[in-house]
Amino acid sequence: MSKYRIAWMPGDGIGVDVMNAARIVLDALELDAEYIDADIGWEFWCNEGEPLPDRTIEILKSCTCGLFGAITSKPKDEAEKELNEDFQDKGLSYRSPIVRLRQLFNLYTNLRPCKAYSGNPLNYRDDIDLVVFRENTEGLYSGVEFHPLPDEVRRTLKKYNERMSRFDAIPAEEIAISLRDITKAGARRIVRQAFSYAQKYEYPTVTLVEKPNVLRETSGLMIREARAVSNDFPEIDLWETNIDAQMMWLLKNPNDYGVIVTSNMFGDIVSDLAAQLVGGLGFAASGNIGDSFAVFEPTHGSAPKYAGQNKVNPTAMLLATKMMLDWLGEVDKAQRLESAVKHVIANGEVRTYDMGGQSTTMEMAGAIRERL
Ligand code: NAI
Ligand code: MG
Repeated sequence: MSKYRIAWMPGDGIGVDVMNAARIVLDALELDAEYIDADIGWEFWCNEGEPLPDRTIEILKSCTCGLFGAITSKPKDEAEKELNEDFQDKGLSYRSPIVRLRQLFNLYTNLRPCKAYSGNPLNYRDDIDLVVFRENTEGLYSGVEFHPLPDEVRRTLKKYNERMSRFDAIPAEEIAISLRDITKAGARRIVRQAFSYAQKYEYPTVTLVEKPNVLRETSGLMIREARAVSNDFPEIDLWETNIDAQMMWLLKNPNDYGVIVTSNMFGDIVSDLAAQLVGGLGFAASGNIGDSFAVFEPTHGSAPKYAGQNKVNPTAMLLATKMMLDWLGEVDKAQRLESAVKHVIANGEVRTYDMGGQSTTMEMAGAIRERL
């Protein structure tokens, strides 16, 4: 029996291309693992009405961790149109399977390191080494949404908050509400993860990015909890910034920042900007990490226009694979993989289209494999 069981979820579009790249590297590293194919994505929504089938959830429960490529998500109406006619009119509504998976397995930390590897022509600057901790299960992406707005919800909101009266004249069909829920426990655990990481890797600061002057309750709670957690880490400074200004500062002085921590949607936004600073989505990896289970993925989506062309940059996927190896405690293999990635980027002979080259996904992965 292998030491690890890894759920293998290529998903849609370029997810398949980059997972092929990950496999040749894992095989060359001789990781003692069994890879279990698991269905996820658009095809399963269209044909079965469920993009994350129960059989996949069962596989995940039996695995050490998961590796995921990307999925295609479409807005509500489009999703319903593409559903197989056997499932039309059954009241099914599309939910992103990766968002659901994060919630189902309580993978509350979304860890997104953004490091500038030297020689990458796409680096905004060469000295960037940032890590974004994004809360992954709560906030605006928790999926508690209303449209049309039920009368009872409206009445209750109004009863407890006078500001709701402003919308009295708006018909239920013409108003939609998405809830931003933040719990003390949720805030505390994501901030604690960020501080522990800063301590382990010797970052001098943790920057909490919120908007407490406007989102008084949810951001306010996040900040109070962060201050409490920071007392346990006296050697690390807690910086508090607003999301809008932070976007500007991150572009102006990216090397001022080390560990950034924030709630779900702000984290989604911050991490794409941070990714662009170090070469774009082709270089951005992420881990969805809980207390005893994790799923690793590139930050990018399924990029349908490049699907199946063996063209996109596999680096993000390979760095996600490196994160998985670290999480498994395979530190030596993780380091070998990162060194090989660094070497190929610095050497510059093999580059995918986004880096101005003409090499294919598999050529780049092959070059990295040669350097392991
Ligand atoms: P995307 O990340 O798929 O692609 C945006 C653009 O970034 C691409 O057109 C391409 O120019 C570039 N890009 C992405 N990955 C690259 C790579 N490995 N190498 C080189 N260039 C790369 O985002 P988009 O177009 O907004 O969404 C496409 C689909 O993916 C949508 O259905 C969306 O819902 C889904 N999506 C899924 C995610 C996930 O699976 N976690 C995350 C983000 C989007
Ligand atoms: Mg995103």
